[in-house]
Amino acid sequence: MRKKITIIGSGNVGATAAHWAASRGLGNVVLLDVVEGIPQGKALDLLQAGPVDGFNNLITGTNDFADSANSDVVIITAGLARKPGMSRDDLLAKNVAIVKSCAEQAAKHSPNCVMIVVTNPIDAMVYTAFKVAGLPSRRVIGMAGVLDSARYRTFLALELGVAPRDVSAMVMGIHGDHMLPLVRLANVSGIPVTDLIPADRLAGIVKRTQHGGGEIVNHLKTGSAFYTPGLAAVEMAEAVLTDSKRVLPCAAYVEGEFGFSGCFLGVPVVLGEGGVERIIEFKLTDDEQAAMAVSEAAVRKQMAETGL
Ligand code: 2OP
Repeated sequence: MRKKITIIGSGNVGATAAHWAASRGLGNVVLLDVVEGIPQGKALDLLQAGPVDGFNNLITGTNDFADSANSDVVIITAGLARKPGMSRDDLLAKNVAIVKSCAEQAAKHSPNCVMIVVTNPIDAMVYTAFKVAGLPSRRVIGMAGVLDSARYRTFLALELGVAPRDVSAMVMGIHGDHMLPLVRLANVSGIPVTDLIPADRLAGIVKRTQHGGGEIVNHLKTGSAFYTPGLAAVEMAEAVLTDSKRVLPCAAYVEGEFGFSGCFLGVPVVLGEGGVERIIEFKLTDDEQAAMAVSEAAVRKQMAETGL
């Protein structure tokens, strides 16, 4: 039986996620949007790539949540994107209402799904989805750490002139300026980057990672990144759909891990068919712990602004 993935929001991120999901043959894809014609047109266009790319999944576009019924994974990308000069927090008031509506309707039609939230500000939006969807917390997950870690790995690889795939590095905490790229654990095939890159250059890479989203917004002017955000969400979806037990940094609901409880925070999780199978906790340095506390405080401020 083929798996079913519904992607809510057929803008740049949603349509790109559909492309990556189709190309990876993850299952049948339903592309959903409120705007008539957009999901239908983009889905038909993507479907026609099958003979060339080799995938044979069904891809359909719709404006009706009923067509998303019994999805294994639902990816929520719907909402406004940043423009230059805007922070992700500036999107909160408008996107809460959108994510609330999407999460409620998606969960009604797919009560057994794993819900991956991409809409910004993501730490508040995944909390919003959790509060209204009625799903267990382990089946509501925010996409951020995979994206931020991909940027971090890219910048480290560029600095060292090595293959990005051989760079292992993780970003924890909030998906925002206070995110925590972990320098101590970053390595190239096991070799610590602290042995290879001077501290001041590493500090510059950390800062570029923390502002990686804004750097792209400033180039594009009309919106934000979508290739890697879309792929990051699909990477998480693939771990769920294949029960692969991948260890990926995700915005997960913490209940004591790293000393925090009752909020969604970027932490390393084991992803499988049940969603977050467990959070991998490990000892942080005092500085790392303090940085996570700054993240958590920023997340709680966003949570309060949702009014939920
Ligand atoms: C980013 O960091 C859109 O928040 C997303 O690019």
